[in-house]
Amino acid sequence: MKVLGIETSCDETAAAVVEDGHRLLSNVVFSSMDLHVQYGGVVPEIAARSHIEAIQPVINQALTDANCTWDDIDAIAVTYGAGLGGSLLVGVMTARTLAITHQKPLYGVNHVAGHVYANFLTDTTLPGYSLRTAQPRFPMLAVIVSGGHSQLVLFRDHFDYTLLGRTRDDAIGEAFDKVAKILGLPYPGGPSVSQKALDGDPHQYRLPIPQLGPRNAFVGIRRRVQHGDAVQGDAEDRNDPYQSVRRATAAGGNAAMRAVVESGKYDFSFSGLKTAVLRLAQAETGHDYTFPSTKLPEALSEAQKANIAASFQYTAVKTIVSKTKQAYDEFSPVSVVIAGGVAASPELRRQLTNALPKVTIEYPDLKLCTDNGAMIATLGCFQVMQGRSEADPYTLAITPNLSM
Ligand code: KG4
Ligand code: ZN
Repeated sequence: MKVLGIETSCDETAAAVVEDGHRLLSNVVFSSMDLHVQYGGVVPEIAARSHIEAIQPVINQALTDANCTWDDIDAIAVTYGAGLGGSLLVGVMTARTLAITHQKPLYGVNHVAGHVYANFLTDTTLPGYSLRTAQPRFPMLAVIVSGGHSQLVLFRDHFDYTLLGRTRDDAIGEAFDKVAKILGLPYPGGPSVSQKALDGDPHQYRLPIPQLGPRNAFVGIRRRVQHGDAVQGDAEDRNDPYQSVRRATAAGGNAAMRAVVESGKYDFSFSGLKTAVLRLAQAETGHDYTFPSTKLPEALSEAQKANIAASFQYTAVKTIVSKTKQAYDEFSPVSVVIAGGVAASPELRRQLTNALPKVTIEYPDLKLCTDNGAMIATLGCFQVMQGRSEADPYTLAITPNLSM
């Protein structure tokens, strides 16, 4: 059973063919990052325009690399959220059109869940990939760390999970990007901060790890209930910031799980850390908080930049790792998997290995950590194999703020 996966949620135009949810037959990724670097971040309109130009050639290449014609493809899976609206539209409209013209079943895939499924690829016909030796087993704790997401998710089985915690402000990848800007390092910040940190001392500066109180989302939900608003229903869910909390508690199924989610003990926050780095950099150059951040790159020495990069990276990663360890101790998962672009971080891999000596954590190939079509095709395979409902190719809509 072969699924073509299409991914266009951000700046990567990607397509891949995956067989039976474990065999990678092709993986083609075209990134428009070069066009965004000068702006210090992805420009949505430029990304969308680039997808329009690249999508057809990328899909054709994915079919060719997999030695497939359309006759060999059993289904099409496409990312319909979360992501940039214009970017998602190109992928979804292309997939809808292809599903209709080639008469293939269509499946909408959640981008964030897709990242987790990069861990289910175990064999390939392609050169240059180092894949896991076996698929993860359930219960599985997933640490999702990317440019747009930081989440801890406990999977009891495929499509049966609880979102234990998530960031309340910035994602960890965003924090890397902002710190890179403060230090005058190139975008994207993850790889450049990682590189700079190699020359620095991670213990030179002590940066804060926030202690978060209970979520107050339930206050909002209760207020809405008191006002007679509906709190159930898909259409209404779409733009509702509380949907993830409700879904998590519903999926959790019992009061103990609800209490865990509500306590907020597995939530993250990275905006305070980013501000702490800004204040630290200003203080190190002998200025106060009024000193413009744009002047910091020239005012800081290379040694100071390296020490700040290393101390920031150590603390950001520790924030993720300490909650992961806490969740591991509480839920005793059989597997722990890492997903998302920040899974490429060597410091994250080092700290996790130290924190969880009893589990062997296998990482997806670096090419499968950042956005790609293979993870979407893999999750698409499981949607087919587990009889999940097909999307209507005439109506599948994008959901830019889709939650897990
Ligand atoms: O998953 P991804 O490709 O895109 C999103 O769905 O967000 O993740 C991109 C993020 C960027 O923020 C990038 O800075 C980060 O992954 N990243 C890293 C490293 N390589 C990429 N962060 C830390 N260390 C790295 N080595
Ligand atoms: Zn992603």
